[in-house]
Amino acid sequence: MRLKPLVLLFCGVFAVASTGFAGEKRCTIEGKRVECPTRTAEELQKAVDNFEQEAINMMRGFAGSTYGITGFDYLTGVGKRSSKGRAGKATLKAGDSGYGSTTGKTEVWDRIKKPASGEAIYNQWANNWSPTFKKSLVPGANPNEGKQWYYVYCVGCHGWLLRGDGPNAVFLDPYPRDLTAGWYMNKKTNLELFAVIKGGGAAVDLSECMPAWGNLLQDQDIWNVIAWIRANADAKPPRTLQEYLNPKSTFDPNSPANKINALNAKDSEEFQELQELLEGGMVAGRGGGLKGGGFVEGGLRKRPEETVVKGY
Ligand code: HEC
Repeated sequence: MRLKPLVLLFCGVFAVASTGFAGEKRCTIEGKRVECPTRTAEELQKAVDNFEQEAINMMRGFAGSTYGITGFDYLTGVGKRSSKGRAGKATLKAGDSGYGSTTGKTEVWDRIKKPASGEAIYNQWANNWSPTFKKSLVPGANPNEGKQWYYVYCVGCHGWLLRGDGPNAVFLDPYPRDLTAGWYMNKKTNLELFAVIKGGGAAVDLSECMPAWGNLLQDQDIWNVIAWIRANADAKPPRTLQEYLNPKSTFDPNSPANKINALNAKDSEEFQELQELLEGGMVAGRGGGLKGGGFVEGGLRKRPEETVVKGY
């Protein structure tokens, strides 16, 4: 594993019309330089336009929505409004929640028909209106747990369907990775993904636009996120709710990329070396260097003993 300590690359957050990294072969597969898999500027602009449209509709009182459902409706196109109305695409009547007992409803609502309110709406979405996996492609890691972290921390840049088209993406230079790009991602080892998620882009010679998560996510959380990413390799944009809830992955659990995984990492010298580098303050992290096993009190964070992995 080649780590690049203490390198601060330019991150063009909110840079205007900056295309500094476009076309530059910064990404590597097995040591060979390739163009990084990202969406195009046009696609990213469309994604942010859709997102803004949803926000405007919400402010007007059309289809009060959660952040998550926003993505569902507009980025996938699956959750289209099921009834016609005013205000362009938003076809619900002003004041309708879209999830409650009143008139206008989304297509998802028509199919799922379970009333919820308050925080339960968010939980219902996160638990029921997103894919749930019975099996993991990464031994010892739970994609369903990883999904929850992904929707908290990663979705804004990497997008609802992991295609690198979150609402922030168009403002970044370079653009965030399309995490579903199997030709690239399936060749990346679990260890490489662990390094970039825990230590950020700066830890692996990529842009620091990709933040370090080691002070927010514990190691097990990171493994779980990797399992979620693996479950979405080459997942196609869904055309139906069924397709959306059951993404087909091309990641081969027997591939060499899976050699070091959540189950056996503790016995791997390579993994220990990586951990020393990541935690030794040698790479960028919040507050200068990462601490301990990546655990910092507060927020949504769970203590290591609270992170239980069942059945994987
Ligand atoms: C602020 C925006 C942002 C957020 C939030 C973000 N990323 Fe990224 N991510 C990026 C960018 C930009 C790149 C591309 C870096 C480059 O090409 O140099 C990237 C690249 C990656 C890569 C590819 C690394 C490689 O080897 O090519 C992975 C994996 C990744 N991110 C995972 C995640 C995960 C998991 C999360 C949430 C815990 C996350 N990212 C959150 C912006 C972000």
